[in-house]
Parts: sequence; structure tokens; C-alpha cells
Amino acid sequence: MDVQAAILQRRSTRGFDDTPLTDEEIRTLIDAALASPSVLNIQPWHFAFVTDKAAMDEMDVLLRELYTHEFGEKSEKRHFYNAPLFVAITVKSREKNRYTHIECGIAVENLALSAMGLGLGSVIMHTPSIGFASEKGAYFKEKMGIPADNEFIIGIVIGHSAEHPEAHSIRENRYTIV
Ligand SMILES: Cc1cc2nc3c(=O)[nH]c(=O)nc-3n(C[C@H](O)[C@H](O)[C@H](O)COP(=O)(O)O)c2cc1C
Repeated sequence: MDVQAAILQRRSTRGFDDTPLTDEEIRTLIDAALASPSVLNIQPWHFAFVTDKAAMDEMDVLLRELYTHEFGEKSEKRHFYNAPLFVAITVKSREKNRYTHIECGIAVENLALSAMGLGLGSVIMHTPSIGFASEKGAYFKEKMGIPADNEFIIGIVIGHSAEHPEAHSIRENRYTIV
């Protein structure tokens, strides 16, 4: 798949079938993440590749509880959408700077586009930040292979799409040509 096609055809996929990813697919995704650019090539990140569905399901339960507490109504939403892979991008809290979110944002899009190249779907996710910021945060970091002193910045779930969403609508006045 060429790069422009991958960019234009990427969609947030919120449903995955049960097919696990192969070691080769995961290796390709690791290479894409590690190829990401960063200021002064510092590579501030840690990528936790989580294939432990029990861990994701457990965090799902916590997120539902926290959402129910926050919004007052019971949520049945599955935040990980049954995906076989969750990648958590984290950085050392004390090393965060003004570029950290940009760098991790580029890396997460590298992962989304690499997934497209493999014929896989993905959705970028901020919601796990709520679980990692909770009192069970340290527990989930350990369970998901995230260094204890790291802070969650952004994540992505990846798998075989069980749905084919439309492209998002494009809002007006989002660019100029001079
Ligand atoms: C930084 C960021 C965080 C996001 N967090 C979530 C999330 O937690 N859960 C979710 O379902 N989608 C999440 N999304 C996906 C957006 O809702 C989605 O990108 C947007 O609606 C546009 O749709 P598209 O990705 O199909 O083009 C996130 C996207 C970005 C860029």
C-alpha cells in the first residue's frame, strides 16, 4: 500500500475480530514505532506492546467503573474494542518537556499507518490515561510491562477490523493556500 493511500484510508476501527497478530506483524509494528523522529533523536519513549487480553479486559472493567462514577450512568462500553494488541506509549515523568506529546503523537501515527500497511485496523486511545492515573495505575503499569516511573502519554489498539467505518467528515476552513 502506498503512503498516501494508507493516510487517506486510515479510520478509527472500534471493533476487532478474535484473530491474534503474528510475531512478524508485531515486529513490523515495533520497527515502525522505533523509526519515529524525536527532538535531538532523544527517543524519549517506551512502547509497551500488550497482547495480554486479560490485562486489557481488567482495565476495561476499571474504566467502566470510573466512567460510571464520573458520569453517573452505567457504561457498558468496551474501551479496548476486543483488540488483540494495545500499545502504550509512555515517557519518564521527569523527562517530559514541551515536545513530548508531539513526539509520541508522531509515533502513534507511525503505528497506525504501519498497521494499515499490514491490512490491520487501529484506533488511537487516550482513555487508558484515566486508568493509569487512578489508584490502580501502578498495578496496571506492572501488568502491562510499563516502567514504574513512566507516565502514559497515548496508546493505540490494533487488530483485524470487524467493521468498515466511513472516513471522518472534513470541517471547513482548516487550511489556506497563499
Ligand atoms: C489523541 C487522540 C486520542 C483519541 N482517543 C480516543 C479514545 O480514547 N477512544 C476512541 O474510541 N477514539 C479515540 N480517538 C479517535 C478519534 O475519535 C478519531 O480519530 C476521530 O473521531 C476521527 O476519526 P478517524 O480516526 O476515523 O479519522 C482519539 C484520537 C486521537 C488523535
